[in-house]
Amino acid sequence: MGTRLIIDTDPGVDDAFALALAARSADVDLLGVTTVFGNVDVELTTANARRVLALCDREDVPVAGGAARPLVHPRRTRPSSAHGDDGLSGRSDVLPAPRRPVEPGGAGRLLAGLLEAADEPVTLAPIGPLTNIAALLASRPDLHDRIARVVVMGGAVGGGNATAAAEFNVFSDPEAAHRVLTGGEVPCVLVPMDVTYRCAVTAEWLAGLAASGPVGAALHALVPDYLAHYRKALGADAMVIHDAVAVAEAIAPGLLRTESLPVAVETSAGPARGATVVDRRRSEVRGETEVPVLGGRVDVAVDADPDRLRALLTERLAQP
Ligand code: RIB
Ligand code: CA
Repeated sequence: MGTRLIIDTDPGVDDAFALALAARSADVDLLGVTTVFGNVDVELTTANARRVLALCDREDVPVAGGAARPLVHPRRTRPSSAHGDDGLSGRSDVLPAPRRPVEPGGAGRLLAGLLEAADEPVTLAPIGPLTNIAALLASRPDLHDRIARVVVMGGAVGGGNATAAAEFNVFSDPEAAHRVLTGGEVPCVLVPMDVTYRCAVTAEWLAGLAASGPVGAALHALVPDYLAHYRKALGADAMVIHDAVAVAEAIAPGLLRTESLPVAVETSAGPARGATVVDRRRSEVRGETEVPVLGGRVDVAVDADPDRLRALLTERLAQP
């Protein structure tokens, strides 16, 4: 058996691709899915996650709803226009209605229960705000050693997307991101938007996916609003499926090139709130600095092979 995996998500068009990637990977034991506010409210992200699993004929996978707002401060992000009003370009009705009910007790109980029951450490792949994961680490230190690694889609080494400084997932709950990424409690991999942008998929690639079978066709039906957003953001007929890049790394360790680097998260109320500060100076120089490193060490993805990434997506998603 390959990767034991739990995905924490805010679907979200790119989240839908990421969920389908995991759900349709025979070498992945998708133990569960937990949802969080983010692209849209948590009620919608939960409904969307269940629909994507129904599309992939994976309603064996339990889904539980999580945080409706950030840990500390009120939500400062409005639902993302890039994903449409329902989080899936207004096309969520393209997906089958789920039959399996939401798990009772919420995301915290499902995460803890799955980790307690696991006979091997589990990979967590948070691809939305980190609120649920921060709450888990804070409330269940006894489970830290049940977590193999946390592969986070989030952060920006260069400029952000939610603001000039901050990427959306981290900006949505900077305190949660600070706790997860700098707490030093579990091994973390950070997949920042600098790398996900290099793995954009073209409209042509999407058309090929649409022709591959019912799952590809349904995923393609979800993209209009998202593709329109990224046509503006990229200036090209393409889109960035950020979360699928992170889940690809989670299920194929080493797919991305990473460096172990000091990371800090800005949690002030200033213009850089939600920025991920990654210290890429050479260690010889870094050691000379007067200012102690404020963050923890994180395996930060610094490069990707886009063709290899897209080939994995095609192999797993474009199955009939
Ligand atoms: O910045 C990209 C992230 O924000 C992705 O997880 C996308 O789904 C949005 O939530
Ligand atoms: Ca997401």
